[in-house]
Amino acid sequence: MAHEQVAGQIGRRGVLALGGGAAAVVVLGACSPGSEVSDVASASSAASGQALATVEQVPQGGGVVIPDPAIVVTQPELGVYKAFTAICPHQGCLVDQVVENEIVCPCHGSRFSAVDGAVLVGPATEGLAPEPIRVQGTAITLG
Ligand code: FES
Repeated sequence: MAHEQVAGQIGRRGVLALGGGAAAVVVLGACSPGSEVSDVASASSAASGQALATVEQVPQGGGVVIPDPAIVVTQPELGVYKAFTAICPHQGCLVDQVVENEIVCPCHGSRFSAVDGAVLVGPATEGLAPEPIRVQGTAITLG
């Protein structure tokens, strides 16, 4: 069921296919219903060098969620890109949007800093763990 929800969200928002076997990217910005995704691949299972997004896909103050691996990439300042696990530490939902430098979990409303992943609003009590990335040209890859 979780995959169906994720696939539905991707379908509504549009899938951006990246070359070289890259992951699908959910472009953020629209509100959507909650999606509990307990079986999404964790970021720790992703391979270094895996393409995540291009810099054009990550708006300043916003971000994109890559469901597989579950990583959210943000641009809190012009030209500064950050990445975190996209799995909410509260009950495991996939975060679904980044608004004004806040990463939002749709399930119970937790919000996290797009700068460092710290909890801004609960019920989550832990932040989103950072993920290493590299920006080479316009490509953002796992570091
Ligand atoms: Fe994210 Fe509850 S699972 S706030």
